[in-house]
Amino acid sequence: MVEMTRRDFIKASVVTSVALAAASLGIPLVQYISSERVVTGKIGAGSSSLPLKIANINDLEPDSQMQFTMPLNPDGSRGQHPTILIRLRPELVQKAGTELKAFSAVCTHLGCIVHLEKKDDIYCPCHAGYFDPVTGEVLAGPPKKPLPEVKIRIDENGDIYAEGWKK
Ligand code: FES
Repeated sequence: MVEMTRRDFIKASVVTSVALAAASLGIPLVQYISSERVVTGKIGAGSSSLPLKIANINDLEPDSQMQFTMPLNPDGSRGQHPTILIRLRPELVQKAGTELKAFSAVCTHLGCIVHLEKKDDIYCPCHAGYFDPVTGEVLAGPPKKPLPEVKIRIDENGDIYAEGWKK
């Protein structure tokens, strides 16, 4: 019979704890990666200037989203920042005063990528954080800060531009 020394026992306990912690973090990530909602965010990737043309209004159905990349982080530093453009569902348009909204896609809790849930709110799959698709404010879950918002402009042809972060 193999005897376990005190040192072996401590090592085994540490390895088990680390494995459990990794698994608890990894499961939401795997769930997210394997979901249909993973988007590439190639629009704007590599761009370094604003305004950034994102799409045309006809590219987006009501109650849908498109991911793009801002060339600046919300704090003004240079960076490729994942962002979502949302065409709101009709019942939210009057409250918003616009059909279009854009927010950072980086959850303000621990940085997972958020997405729009159909007929619902902006959702973070990692710890069930919910954000308002009109204001970016936290509605539920562990995040404490709202999602930073992007200034959007739409021209007479329906082309949509990101102009910068709202302060
Ligand atoms: S990272 Fe989004 S809720 Fe935790």
